[in-house]
Amino acid sequence: MSDQTLSNLLKEDRRFEPPADLAADANLKEEAYERARGDREAFWAEQAERLSWEQPWDRVLDWDDPPFAKWFVGGRLNAAYNCVDRHVEAGRGDQVAIHWVGEPVDDARDLTYQQLQDEVSQAANTLTELGVQTGDRVAIYMPMIPEAVVAMLACARIGAPHTVVFGGFSSDALASRLVDCEAKAVITADGGYRRGAPSALKPAVDEARAKASSQGHDVAKVLVVQRTGQDVEWDADVDVWWHESVGQASTEHTPEAFDSEHPLFVMYTSGTTGKPKGILHTTGGYLTGSAYTHWAVFDLKPETDVYWCTADIGWITGHSYIVYGPLANGVTQVLYEGTPDSPERGRWWKIIQDLKVSIFYTAPTAIRSFMKQGQEIPDQFDMSSLRVLGSVGEPINPEAYVWYRHVIGKDKAPVVDTWWQTETGSIMISPLPGVTHGKPGSAMIPIPGVEAEVVTEEGEAVPNGSGGYLVLTEPWPSMLRTIWGDDNRFKETYWSRYAKQGFYFAGDGAKKDDDGDLWVLGRVDDVMNVSGHRLSTTEIESALVSHPKVAEAAVVGAKDEDTGQAVCAFVILRDEAGDGGEDIVAELRTHVRKEIGPIATPRQIMVVPELPKTRSGKIMRRLLRDVAENREVGDVTTLADSSVMDLISSKQSGGG
Ligand code: PRX
Repeated sequence: MSDQTLSNLLKEDRRFEPPADLAADANLKEEAYERARGDREAFWAEQAERLSWEQPWDRVLDWDDPPFAKWFVGGRLNAAYNCVDRHVEAGRGDQVAIHWVGEPVDDARDLTYQQLQDEVSQAANTLTELGVQTGDRVAIYMPMIPEAVVAMLACARIGAPHTVVFGGFSSDALASRLVDCEAKAVITADGGYRRGAPSALKPAVDEARAKASSQGHDVAKVLVVQRTGQDVEWDADVDVWWHESVGQASTEHTPEAFDSEHPLFVMYTSGTTGKPKGILHTTGGYLTGSAYTHWAVFDLKPETDVYWCTADIGWITGHSYIVYGPLANGVTQVLYEGTPDSPERGRWWKIIQDLKVSIFYTAPTAIRSFMKQGQEIPDQFDMSSLRVLGSVGEPINPEAYVWYRHVIGKDKAPVVDTWWQTETGSIMISPLPGVTHGKPGSAMIPIPGVEAEVVTEEGEAVPNGSGGYLVLTEPWPSMLRTIWGDDNRFKETYWSRYAKQGFYFAGDGAKKDDDGDLWVLGRVDDVMNVSGHRLSTTEIESALVSHPKVAEAAVVGAKDEDTGQAVCAFVILRDEAGDGGEDIVAELRTHVRKEIGPIATPRQIMVVPELPKTRSGKIMRRLLRDVAENREVGDVTTLADSSVMDLISSKQSGGG
């Protein structure tokens, strides 16, 4: 982010007080901050009490071997029991757990907690029957249908860590994850609905399974939900229909309690190298973190609220704020299969109106696209049920914040801008809607129980009014435990930069304003954020150079009005490829889609003769970003050959 943007941001001086009714009845009060700071472990133990433990812990935190934390040591619990059965036992079996809304209009289904318990039990029985045992990994590659939630909870119920792979990822991306975590089974569907048409998933699983086999890993079973009814290839030794197995299984299943540190799931996310990182979350601490934050940050009243998070379960937001947090809290929620504007632009607002959604959680990129369509569309719907609005995934620009609050929230529902990451497992920095006032663009302060700071290179806290690196200074229950199979990378990536202080390095830049409130500015490493999705520059560069015509590639995230950042690629072609041919750009874009998935498709690809490198051979992405953002190119004196930038710039003005 440029200094200019930064100072513009910090000139933002609108303030919104918490609404009086929310404040009066707030779940947490101001005193919680002090109380948590006074005795953090006691505070977290109090939060863990929201869960049902079969065996209580004997130690809250074991931090004897940092950065490897253990929380609620000795405690035993079952995550699925906590998300489902205990609500049924409490007499709430008839309460709707999930209002599922399919993309085709009128394709909807309500699941009560009792029904959820039955289906999760059936799926758990089926997985066991298919040979999945406690500790085995199960990949889930599904559309947003209730079975996706059931599948995750069934895995949790038998202690088989799941790894959900976003349905928009390619078969290559799926294959690499299957191999990395050695998944024993895959749960998928024939397809899902996307913009009014069925889109297939099963063929990608077939391809990924073949690719994994060629790399030495065989997936034993594939469980397939029939969603669209499209034709699928069938391997009778491996493939099993969900309706013929889960649908016929017993609804009786006794959940077993697992150790608090038993792995709950692995979620892959992009890092600074080409290889995605498998972020490991465990049971007790993660569930405590997701349940507590969901309750505190959204000021949740489980008996009366209708909650809706628009994320996909293929991302961490879907894990913590569709599956684990909300269900552990026993709320009624909406699950929507499709895109925001299908079949009409007001689809989301109609869902809010019809189901009387009271808490709504979405991403800035979606808000910006609605802003563009104009206020007339949401104005056609009655959204007076809304009382809290959340934002996640990327910095929310003040205009989008104010529009969200005004047009969607009718100036009555406060906006909570929530900062967190796949690695943190749950929300770390956010206002509390009944306590903290809101500033458009600021995530404000760490929630009670969390300690964050903005520090210099050396690890010193910066004074108010200055910027630096965002760190978390104390361990927290839902922190990642490691990178799957790679403890060294875990230490190196997050804990080496501030090893002396023992801080967790988040990879984000941030600023403290004059009041000490936090403004998260974006990544300081080679990670991009496109529409709230995390992408690695290196991963896209590797995809590009795997194309036979490409010799070298450099990728940068350039500012984009709609998507926050957009992928811009600079490629050097191999000599034998000549000028690459007329369709070279289209060819390379298709190649990236195939290698990673549509979200990684570059907005812009420039074929260039050279890349700007330092004398030690490091690509200076800063200069490429200047080109991609149509700025004057900055200081080139450290380049090995300073004329390179002239070559690239002339290429661009020539439309290259
Ligand atoms: O750069 C930050 C940005 O998203 C990154 C985390 O991405 P991911 O692990 O995919 O998780 C996204 C959903 C939690 C962060 O390092 N980010 C997330 N939320 C915010 C944000 N940046 C600014 N403000 C936020 N509220």
